[in-house]
Amino acid sequence: MQLILLGAPGVGKGTQAKKIMTKYDIPQISTGEILRNEVKNQSELGKKAKKIMDRGELIPDDIILEMMEKRIQQDDCRNGFILDGFPRTIPQAHGLYDLLKKFDDGPLKVIQIDVPEQEIVRRLTLRRICASCGKDYNLELNPPSPDGKCRVCNGTVIQRNDDTEETIRKRLAVYRQQTEPLVDYYRKYDHLHVINGLEPVEEVFQKIDDIISNRQKKSKEAMPEQRVR
Ligand code: AP5
Repeated sequence: MQLILLGAPGVGKGTQAKKIMTKYDIPQISTGEILRNEVKNQSELGKKAKKIMDRGELIPDDIILEMMEKRIQQDDCRNGFILDGFPRTIPQAHGLYDLLKKFDDGPLKVIQIDVPEQEIVRRLTLRRICASCGKDYNLELNPPSPDGKCRVCNGTVIQRNDDTEETIRKRLAVYRQQTEPLVDYYRKYDHLHVINGLEPVEEVFQKIDDIISNRQKKSKEAMPEQRVR
């Protein structure tokens, strides 16, 4: 299964990708998480990426495509993968098409999760994460311990640098300008499913799971090759 989760920052791509990964035993590939690890390890890529990510802008396509080429050739991707936060531009979608020619796993499925911007800003300004284990907190619904520590590993709970209101609004503007054109791009080739991400996490997952199940039945049929550009 090759699945793209498409949607603006904060719609729940990462939350749903983790649930799909657990149920279907295929890896979540989050370009954001890969980049944040590079930043944490202070690699050359990390140093360059940090400034761009803190501004809420996108890393150049050539860097992302090189990173993804290495990642999807790893052994754990043999039975498929969930792409979370990639592709994010039309050139990245073209690059992905070329990479996918190396895989023979049926047609690509794209699920766009749709949430109004007002709710996105609310979710992301309230989000906190554990710097050690990555557990996700929400200051209203699911706060960390009163001393600011993670309830799972006692690590320090922090706010992502790009989760300030100003940077969230910048990320949303970047999404509208550079990523939203992918909705029409994938719709044109009949790959796209759109779901409402305002519902509770379990209900959103149920809809995604239904889409994946239908696809699995369909993928046994011969599909003509589609050049998605
Ligand atoms: P990335 O890490 O991909 O961030 P993003 O797309 O902005 O997405 P988020 O992680 O903020 O949100 P999400 O949709 O995963 O939602 P989540 O599940 O966390 O990218 C960060 C940066 O890296 C980019 O700005 C860019 O600089 C760079 N980058 C990454 N990929 C790139 C690429 N391909 N090209 C170029 N640059 C790239 O949920 C959000 C919150 O909402 C959580 O607190 C969660 O608990 C809550 N929530 C989730 N679902 C629900 C629900 N149904 N109801 C209520 N709350 C919910």
